[in-house]
Amino acid sequence: MILSKSILFSAVQPSGKLTIGNYIGTMRHWSKMQNDYHCLYCVADLHSLTIQDKNFSLRESILDTISFYLACGVDPNKSIIFIQSHVPQHSQLNWILNCFSQFSELLRMTQFKIKKTIKNNYIKNTNVGLFNYPILMASDILLYQTNFVPVGRDQKQHIELTRNIANRINALYGNIFTLPVPLISKYGSKIMSLLEPRKKMSKSDINKKNVIFLLDDIPSVVLKIKNAVTDSEKLSRICFDLEKKPGISNLLEIFSSITNKEVHILSEELKGITYSEFKSIVSDHLSKFLLQLQKSYFKYRCNESYLKKVAYEGAFKAQLKAKQTLNKINLKLGLV
Ligand code: TRP
Repeated sequence: MILSKSILFSAVQPSGKLTIGNYIGTMRHWSKMQNDYHCLYCVADLHSLTIQDKNFSLRESILDTISFYLACGVDPNKSIIFIQSHVPQHSQLNWILNCFSQFSELLRMTQFKIKKTIKNNYIKNTNVGLFNYPILMASDILLYQTNFVPVGRDQKQHIELTRNIANRINALYGNIFTLPVPLISKYGSKIMSLLEPRKKMSKSDINKKNVIFLLDDIPSVVLKIKNAVTDSEKLSRICFDLEKKPGISNLLEIFSSITNKEVHILSEELKGITYSEFKSIVSDHLSKFLLQLQKSYFKYRCNESYLKKVAYEGAFKAQLKAKQTLNKINLKLGLV
């Protein structure tokens, strides 16, 4: 008997420049996974409409994001790379799932609470898309009968919501949706700000010294790591301790992710060195890694017709699967 591979779905929102947090938390795992799963890697452009910024070009950002997927080793012959808005079933399923989601459960979403507090008068100023954001995510995932979703730690709650919505519909109409399981790695699933290591590294941070972007030039990467907050213990001690040493732990997680070495092995190897020595080792490795990634990125980015070809072919393949699921639910709901 041939056992068919499980389905894996992941996505990144193309809003602005990607950071090492996006890479380490999510995209780093993608190329390894394509041998073991049927992978779908989506550019979540409709999610980006929840942010309105006149200075930002969504079109450019979508193409930038596909280029990064390819530069990270995703192979369009093995995996499906596509743009969310090219598969209209995402929006169609989104409406259906809206009707099976509760206002109160969406109000509990931590990411919504964080995003809405940026604006004071949120009832007036926050768009409904931001509120419904997790339901569109649920549509992305459930549309492909996804088994696994590799995500950063901050997205775990959204996957739980997806499971709740799927369970609710399955209980009413029989087994329609597969229940997805989040894949969250122990280390690196939430990279923190360099100057405020108790806060998540975010591409929209106004202080750019907090963030390393994948396209940062090397001298600024070196400088940002050099200025990263450590701690004021009398003796330098390189060890993983999120409570007492969030800054050092964050640098260790970054280092471990790009060298593929376990955190506890690294802390053993780095025993006795000073914080400034540690930082220069981290920035050496990170610079080498970024240089290589950027080289590959630019090779793809300057070939827009290839990027579009990858996206169109991906959308075609994704639609075949998406239509099946949508037909299944439409039939159960009595849509003729
Ligand atoms: N919200 C994710 C992010 O922050 C992107 C995303 C959209 C996603 N749809 C998804 C991730 C479905 C996992 C599964 O970038």
